[in-house]
Amino acid sequence: MSEVAPIAMMPLYTNVDRIAKGLAALGIGPTDPIHPEQLFAMDQWHYHGTDAIRDTAKRLALGPKDQVLDVGSGVGGPARYLAHTIGCHVTALELQPELHEIAVDLTRRCALDRLVTHVCADALTYPLADASFDAWVSWLAILHIPDRPRLLARLRRALRPGGRCHIEDLCMRATFAPRDLNDVRQIVHGNVVTSIADYKTDLEAASFINVEATDLTPDWAPYAAERLTAWKAGHAAYARVHGEAAYAAQDLFYTVIARLYESGSLGGVRLQAKVP
Ligand SMILES: C[S@@+](CC[C@H](N)C(=O)[O-])C[C@H]1O[C@@H](n2cnc3c(N)ncnc32)[C@H](O)[C@@H]1O
Repeated sequence: MSEVAPIAMMPLYTNVDRIAKGLAALGIGPTDPIHPEQLFAMDQWHYHGTDAIRDTAKRLALGPKDQVLDVGSGVGGPARYLAHTIGCHVTALELQPELHEIAVDLTRRCALDRLVTHVCADALTYPLADASFDAWVSWLAILHIPDRPRLLARLRRALRPGGRCHIEDLCMRATFAPRDLNDVRQIVHGNVVTSIADYKTDLEAASFINVEATDLTPDWAPYAAERLTAWKAGHAAYARVHGEAAYAAQDLFYTVIARLYESGSLGGVRLQAKVP
């Protein structure tokens, strides 16, 4: 297999001016205030958009007093949604400077900067204070992070007693064929995509308790297939606003993901756990 390309070259993370262009298409200028709702179609980079975040907030029983850490926060959509709807404080930790800067700008323009603190850092090295969060959450980010046991041990220490976590991530249902494994590495930037059992084992080894895993593949696989069909149907309209290159980059990503589910090897998983 050839050397893995930098994460910023993953098709989902190129053409990130798509948010500014999407806002411009709504008549919202580069310094205009934004209502968080105006971003929901653009800033949620996971399955089921804000419905998934609402569901998580309910499952974790998040309230306004909670301090929440969002690991791999992207352009900040989930963090802003939690702050906007629950009123909790969210620390949004994102590796890529370009995404972090977009996130900071969007949060300020949504007037949510009192509740959302953006940090640009690697979750494997950023100094998280011990027992400083009531909960941590992560959507479609841990697959990118090369040392899951170390990450989970750090996140475990960052939780207060009684703290809880919620993960949505990709998993492996059957060994990837060589071509598929290459796509998992190169197109999806999947550094750690394992069975659900191995994921649970890593959480338990990091001293999380009450680890509950749910296989989301029966929901996510058709979602990915429908997303691809809708994407292709919207080709002309998307390319008019964002250009053909931006269309093609996301087309490649959605096509590969749909094919990986179809192969029977890729899956989706939700994991929840606590600390005593
Ligand atoms: C698919 S995106 C999801 C973003 C966000 N969770 C959402 O659902 O909208 C995954 C994010 O994880 C970030 N990421 C990857 N490795 C990371 C690391 N080591 N530390 C912090 N963030 C990381 C990526 O840069 C990317 O923005």
